[in-house]
Amino acid sequence: MPAIRILDERLINQIAAGEVVDRPAAALKELLENSLDAQARAVRVEVQSGGVKQLKVVDDGKGIEKNELPLALAQHATSKIATLEDLEQVASLGFRGEALASIAAVSHLALTSRTAASTHAWRIQSSAGNAAAVEPAAALAGTAVEVRDLYYNTPARRKFLRTQGTEFGHCEEVFKRIALSRPDVAMTLQHNGRTHLRLPQQSFQQRALALLGAEFEAASLALDEQSAGVSLRGLIASPTFNRSARDYQYFFVNRRFVRDRLIAHAVREAFHDVLHQERHPAFVLFLDLDPGRVDVNVHPTKSEVRFRDPRAVHQFLFHALTKALAAARAGASIAPVALATAAQPMAGAAHGSSTGSSHSSYAPGQRLTPRQETMGLASMQPGAVYDVLFGRNAAPVIPATSAAMPPLGFALGQLAGVYVLAQNHAGLVVVDMHAAHERIMYEKLKMALDLDRIPTQSLLIPATLRASRLEAALVEENGALLHQLGFELAVIGPEALVVRSVPAPLQDADPAELARDVLREIGEYGATRALRERRDELLAGMACHAAVRANRTLTLPEMNALLREMEATDRSGQCSHGRPTWTQISMAELDRLFQRGQ
Ligand SMILES: Nc1ncnc2c1ncn2[C@@H]1O[C@H](COP(=O)(O)OP(=O)(O)OP(=O)(O)O)[C@@H](O)[C@H]1O
Ligand SMILES: [Mg+2]
Repeated sequence: MPAIRILDERLINQIAAGEVVDRPAAALKELLENSLDAQARAVRVEVQSGGVKQLKVVDDGKGIEKNELPLALAQHATSKIATLEDLEQVASLGFRGEALASIAAVSHLALTSRTAASTHAWRIQSSAGNAAAVEPAAALAGTAVEVRDLYYNTPARRKFLRTQGTEFGHCEEVFKRIALSRPDVAMTLQHNGRTHLRLPQQSFQQRALALLGAEFEAASLALDEQSAGVSLRGLIASPTFNRSARDYQYFFVNRRFVRDRLIAHAVREAFHDVLHQERHPAFVLFLDLDPGRVDVNVHPTKSEVRFRDPRAVHQFLFHALTKALAAARAGASIAPVALATAAQPMAGAAHGSSTGSSHSSYAPGQRLTPRQETMGLASMQPGAVYDVLFGRNAAPVIPATSAAMPPLGFALGQLAGVYVLAQNHAGLVVVDMHAAHERIMYEKLKMALDLDRIPTQSLLIPATLRASRLEAALVEENGALLHQLGFELAVIGPEALVVRSVPAPLQDADPAELARDVLREIGEYGATRALRERRDELLAGMACHAAVRANRTLTLPEMNALLREMEATDRSGQCSHGRPTWTQISMAELDRLFQRGQ
């Protein structure tokens, strides 16, 4: 066995480099964080060949004194903390004093810096961690770090790198995260001489728009919650803007991008109800709290955190997000998915409408004149509404006072047995009636069960169904659970069941099918799991059964009742699978379609 030896410093740095800078993007992150810690107002990044050939970060921050330049490259040298108390209260992004040393150990590095007080800049160069003497240089106030030939002396590491394009992709992602967290800093990103992003100092909204695109911005809802010294701010996209990957998930703790299991869990829980399991929500969120309440010294890359009071943070996050999502009810300010293809759903409007709009005397382009008094369409008889809408006088449908117009407006008719069309202030509202109805039922069931149990409705004619022995056994064993869900079932023969009552909100559903579905769920998962872990799936399944089927003709009062229920129901903007339940097509969009006013 060889004797135990202390490693020399350069080898130590190379080992550390393996942890801190495992790829060019990780080095870029460290350099950018140093610039932000130095209070830079503008930062320029130049990348060559995915960052392997060159990574250059130039900032206008406070700079480094000449005699401190060698220290900046030394291991365990930092200006950011001095004591254990400081470590427990870290407010800067860096504090380990090893990033530059680690990067320098595996590259050719040049550090050029000038403080505001200095008449010129100073530069120090190093190769594989061997620093040369400090020499004068010409540069503006601030710091420039140039890293060339990353991993040139560690071929094993170099082999793990991917293509230029992939490595640059990672660099761009790192850049985006930092740019999102500091919209007050101007930032540019170049790759192989081409500018990819040029971001001026701007508001957070503008920066989110620039980096995440208009579709995200349009679908997102601003969030601002505070409680007991903790705040959560940022944007969450309506669940209808969901993703197949976790690519639009930006979470920052005290302005530091982190991936954290506790946070991920709280977010997943909050979205659980409005998003299909395999889809991912999109958000940019900033959690801010006293630095003393969070430990960032958990991982060499500082991408994980540990909260001193994880339970409180989890609760706060969950509640803040749930509240914001609940506010996303239909007609509330949260924007539904952008409707770029408004032309398609309208194309078949002449068919399928059960209100017989083809008899309408309302000519295209004719303006509807507001009448003086308010009209309560919802309470009118179908015939009367028909007359109002399509009668000889082409009477108006828009109430005079804006206060009287509900957010989702009043129904005009039904399209292809699938969509309810309504008119509101903004223009046309299109509702997927099955999805919307399902959501309303689901929320009703959930609320009832949360309170105690789902109210039951006995059937005038009990429904009998053939059942397997297993199903019969399930009925006998799970009477209490079934009762809680609003059912009354009994075994009436070796292979026959009777459904005497069903959950009151679902009285229109086929009782036999409904019962069979619930029994299948209980059989598969067991009563306890069905109710505890799979409760929401169970209720969603029940709601789906009872929701109005496509091709069912609704009367106008029924349609209006549906619209009013949507407005009153939390989370009614999307069905329980995250698909939208309604969308708005504005007058401007319609005018564009017909090239009016152009
Ligand atoms: N762009 C910069 N502007 C001004 N000072 C800088 C800049 N980059 C580095 N420094 C100085 O060099 C020191 C060492 O930087 P380095 O990144 O190695 O360590 P750190 O930022 O203190 O901690 P960490 O290893 O956690 O990043 C910093 O503490 C800072 O004083
Ligand atoms: Mg640093």
